[in-house]
Amino acid sequence: MSANTYSITTAIDYVNAAPHLGHAYEKIATDVMARFQRLLGKEVFFLTGSDEHGTKVEKTARARGVTPKQHTDELVEEFKKAWDYLNLTYDRFIRTTDADHYAVVEYLWRKMAAKGDIYKKRYQGLYCAGCEKFVTERDLNEAGECPNHQRKPEVVEEENYFFRLSNYKQAIQDHMKSNPGFVLPEFRATEILQMLENLEDISVSRHKDSVSWGISVPDDADQVIYVWIDALSNYITGVGFLHDAPLFAKFWPADVHMIGKDILRFHAIYWPAMLLSAELPLPRQIFAHGFININDAKISKSVGNVVSPFTLQERFDLPNPDPIRYYLMTVASFGQDGSFTEEEFKLKINADLANNLGNLLNRTLNMTNKYFEGRVPQSQFAKPGALHTQGATEVREAYEQFEFQKAAELILQLVDWANKEINDKEPWTLFKNDQIQDLGDLMYTVLETLRQVAIMLSPITPVLSDEIWSQLGYQAPLSELIPRWADITEAHIQPGQPIQLKGPILPRLDSELAGANKKK
Ligand code: ME8
Ligand code: MG
Repeated sequence: MSANTYSITTAIDYVNAAPHLGHAYEKIATDVMARFQRLLGKEVFFLTGSDEHGTKVEKTARARGVTPKQHTDELVEEFKKAWDYLNLTYDRFIRTTDADHYAVVEYLWRKMAAKGDIYKKRYQGLYCAGCEKFVTERDLNEAGECPNHQRKPEVVEEENYFFRLSNYKQAIQDHMKSNPGFVLPEFRATEILQMLENLEDISVSRHKDSVSWGISVPDDADQVIYVWIDALSNYITGVGFLHDAPLFAKFWPADVHMIGKDILRFHAIYWPAMLLSAELPLPRQIFAHGFININDAKISKSVGNVVSPFTLQERFDLPNPDPIRYYLMTVASFGQDGSFTEEEFKLKINADLANNLGNLLNRTLNMTNKYFEGRVPQSQFAKPGALHTQGATEVREAYEQFEFQKAAELILQLVDWANKEINDKEPWTLFKNDQIQDLGDLMYTVLETLRQVAIMLSPITPVLSDEIWSQLGYQAPLSELIPRWADITEAHIQPGQPIQLKGPILPRLDSELAGANKKK
């Protein structure tokens, strides 16, 4: 794995219902990072996919009266449709039902068994199908239900295979000590260190009679491999383990596993232990993001507050998905929970994108038409590095640290700065007073700011950035050009370039459309 590659993964979603904003949140954040790393000139591999085996999916399929495979084939299309709509630039969509994945899971199982880390034992426990994990009495609420799924866990008494997780306690503690930043944000690392204190071996298989939808334990057809052992292995299947040695050499270990806070234990403890047992390198970082709530409530079918990207597209007649991408990346500091409301969505998008950014572009191009015959004026600032070098560095650092909200804020500060320049220096007055050189400098700095903003914001708003880019008069689309991040300060917009005013990049979101009450 060379310094010029970057490998990032998302959690693979359970395909038991269509994706909602919470699933979209994680995938968008990963896409933003992937796009940003490409701007830095890295060769990126972005892996996402679907987690298809196990009790949860099996039950959903049975309730629908279809086979699990028919069910997941249909649902996977829903996920891909949503991800295409959101412009996710993933390199592989792995399905845990893919043939190459079966081979990897079996291989890993045999390696762990050969290590002496797998043993059989009679066991009694409580299993929550919603969580796909064994729980203890302590995990339940007063009604004896799983607090996440409001359902009583099932009592399981079986002879299962166990994995010697407890063997890896010391190794994982040591690894975390010598690799600060292995688990991010930092406060999550503290949680993991606490969990490591009381580490027990885990059940890693179920009897076929209780779960039939899964990968069989090698050499024991009565047992099915635990869905999390299966699911976690996707990260190496996805980058070619056992099947594409050059790809695997290039993109493993992953730079980042992007996941939600609810599944950190699996990623920061189980997965490293499995890799250590199989003698494979560990991922470099695990980032646990927060949750998106809707109207301050946990997204849930029973609450009836499930919002999908397509709900928003229809409700607001969105011309492209950038408002969704932008809103989700700015709704909270990444790592914390955020709450979505339609009202705030509308206000934020109108304020930042339609007004501050959209109007800046529009009025600047109008004035460029009026005062300079539609061409970028000459200016003393027409040289690389004349503007915002410090700002560009700060934005880059924010992206590098997964501070997407801060990155957007810093970029919008440049937009505000340019708007203020226009308001303070009054191009119309400069024109009236025949101060053409000052007018040229002013318009140039604003146009150049817009060029830089288009690049800086493109990981978050690729469509809008392309639109700004084209209106600034560039022929090749920004997305195809793949300008280097360095172009922000090493290049500059050329005097004489004809601009292409085409009108607002984003219509204001209509308040009449927002809110369920006003819908009818
Ligand atoms: O856990 N806000 O799948 P999943 C933010 N198959 N993120 C959310 C969210 C919300 N409201 N709801 C879910 C699984 N997520 C396993 C993963 S990985 C080897 C296997 C996130 O469909 C959640 O935290 O329940 C997880 O990262 C991802 O969506 C898939 O959740
Ligand atoms: Mg979940």
